[in-house]
Amino acid sequence: MATGIQERIGELKRERRAIILAHNYQSPEIQDIADVVGDSLALAQQAAKVEADVIVLCGVWFMAETAKLVNPGRTVLAPDPNAGCPMANMITAAQLAEARLKNPDAAVVCYVNSSAAVKALSDICCTSSNAARVVASIPAGRPILFVPDQSLGDFVARQLGRKLILWPGFCPTHHRILPEDIVRQRAAHPGAVVAVHPECTEEVRREADFVGSTAQILRFVRESAAQTFIIGTEMGICHALRKENPGKEIVHVSRAADCPNMKLNTLEKVLWSLEEMKYEVAVPEEVAAPARRALERMLALG
Ligand code: 13P
Ligand code: SF4
Repeated sequence: MATGIQERIGELKRERRAIILAHNYQSPEIQDIADVVGDSLALAQQAAKVEADVIVLCGVWFMAETAKLVNPGRTVLAPDPNAGCPMANMITAAQLAEARLKNPDAAVVCYVNSSAAVKALSDICCTSSNAARVVASIPAGRPILFVPDQSLGDFVARQLGRKLILWPGFCPTHHRILPEDIVRQRAAHPGAVVAVHPECTEEVRREADFVGSTAQILRFVRESAAQTFIIGTEMGICHALRKENPGKEIVHVSRAADCPNMKLNTLEKVLWSLEEMKYEVAVPEEVAAPARRALERMLALG
């Protein structure tokens, strides 16, 4: 049922000609008022197509920055400018420039969880939905430096049987999920199917029946005939999973997998962002142009 705040957000959306895009990890209230809820790839693809004047991106800062890069003509707002991604902060442009000098022949594949400045120094971006496809698009034999997520990089390297130079970044939220959590949940829910995100450690991925991005986990659960699912990724996705699959039991693997950055966004902050038109994302053109190229190369792969 719509409350005053939800109605006010709806009115402001019409007044400002705005659209709300939300990541699968956002809180249920935000997912429920969003025009689109999706994974990082879907949000980038949707943002590129937006014709409305304003995009409110409910996620973390790199997602809002990505929306601005792929659709520079729109005003892009993030409800809380402090909602950053700690993994994205594990590599700076200066560090990547130095790594490039040490690996002069390497192609740089950059996870979308990164700053615009890091994307600008990369050859191509990827998300967890398309990382294997992106890496496979680079000619065999060419070295690849994969930044910043060592876990996703390791997952792709194993999938493709290809050696990658991995940056030591990681997602603190996904690394809080332990193999013991899966063992404990399997014992409590016999017959349950386990789906985890590739940002999890290899020890956790090894315990799972399925590894995929948030959109891939949603598809897997939708299409599976199983009844009970143990979900090893940030807990926000359970709202979308339960909404889509009312007859299935969704068990979140561990309370520790709660991203505090994603949860900085609230309905009030979404309202204020539309009222006050803040916090607007701006990327200097000398950074935006090469960063956009890396994103567009990824989007062209589909
Ligand atoms: P995806 O939704 O692309 O799987 O991303 C996971 C994530 O951790 C985003 O911060
Ligand atoms: Fe970053 Fe992990 Fe939070 Fe995603 S879940 S925003 S990767 S810290």
